[in-house]
Amino acid sequence: MPTVRVALKERSYPVFIGRGGFSDAGRILRKQRLAQYRAVIVSQKPVADLYADSLKSALLREGIEPCFFIAPYSKSSESSKSQAVFLKLIRALSSADGKGKSLFLVALGGGVVGDLTGFAASVYRRGIPYVQIPTTLTAQVDSAIGGKTSIDLPQGKNLLGAIYQPRLVLSDTSLLDSLPDRHWSDGFAEVIKYGVIKDPHLFLMLEREGLGEFRKNHRLLEKVIQRSVKIKAKLVSRDEWDKRDVRMVLNFGHTAGHAIEAASGYSGRYTHGEAVGVGMLVACDIAKALGVLKDPTLIERLEKTLLKFNLPLYTKALSTEALLRAMGYDKKTELGANRFVLPVYLGKTTIVKNIPLTVISNCLLKRKG
Ligand SMILES: NC(=O)c1ccc[n+]([C@@H]2O[C@H](COP(=O)([O-])OP(=O)(O)OC[C@H]3O[C@@H](n4cnc5c(N)ncnc54)[C@H](O)[C@@H]3O)[C@@H](O)[C@H]2O)c1
Repeated sequence: MPTVRVALKERSYPVFIGRGGFSDAGRILRKQRLAQYRAVIVSQKPVADLYADSLKSALLREGIEPCFFIAPYSKSSESSKSQAVFLKLIRALSSADGKGKSLFLVALGGGVVGDLTGFAASVYRRGIPYVQIPTTLTAQVDSAIGGKTSIDLPQGKNLLGAIYQPRLVLSDTSLLDSLPDRHWSDGFAEVIKYGVIKDPHLFLMLEREGLGEFRKNHRLLEKVIQRSVKIKAKLVSRDEWDKRDVRMVLNFGHTAGHAIEAASGYSGRYTHGEAVGVGMLVACDIAKALGVLKDPTLIERLEKTLLKFNLPLYTKALSTEALLRAMGYDKKTELGANRFVLPVYLGKTTIVKNIPLTVISNCLLKRKG
């Protein structure tokens, strides 16, 4: 199966990408010397209903006996990343523990399950192994790679977390067949981001083919996932702890994007990808206003590409004041100063600090539909 390696010395790990790898999960885990442990599979009901039985059989075939923790959620999937669910998971781990074998965790789900599982693995017994089996496109191209794990606090998203790498990532694209339409678009927002920041060829592929083609053509889908994962793996390898401004480029579109999500109260009105799509356009508009953008065609090309993936170009009914307020709390603002990843041309970005508030405000206003 095609494999991308995340090179982090003794914490290095493989990302397997391909159709059908899921049925081979037991053998893959055994090869990574995980069969000596007891597996706790963490998932959510919609995903477990679809895939838990096949995963259980795949593990049992290799003598790995799993038990399950199905993370409850109320209003939205994100509520599985609450303190209450996290503690419930930790209690479930302590009940499953001590039966002759140490535990390892398997995250079977999207980014929510991946973040929750990774964080639990990072703190339970001061760290136990975990693997990611991502079931959304967002998770396959982004959240399952790089070791950022977290849960939410009432004060904000992802406030309690750790950087803790998985032992492996198993991305089977057939798991995406059941993904609802909106989540496909959501994931492609991140793929488009990779194209703009690092990979003009990837952007060209996206510009040429629409969402429908990628959903039909498995090889093409695998190719864009692989290219995306390679970009993320390389950045993570150079800046595992997110301290050297290298990983920062991945935040292209996320400063305004997070503000859109926060200002709409994380109600799901805008998915993360939809918000990032508009956020990328806001960043382009700012780059243009500051004279940083050297390719004037980029904005129109990005708009056309976002539309091909059913992603919006404007936000509706969000006040500029609310967006600016939300940005003030953005983790990416340092000591009150703002910091944006701005495009220069396709494949090249730059980080600009202390952008005048009027420029940001005008660009947010421009994207208000
Ligand atoms: N750690 C990171 O680096 C990182 C990066 C990006 C996002 N994130 C986090 O990821 C989360 C968002 O993740 P997401 O976009 O994957 O959404 P998600 O995990 O909420 O999944 C979306 C919904 O789809 C369901 N689902 C998942 N896979 C499915 C499948 N194959 N078929 C049918 N239904 C399926 C889920 O149960 C859920 O209801 C956020 O919490 C965000 O903070 C983390």
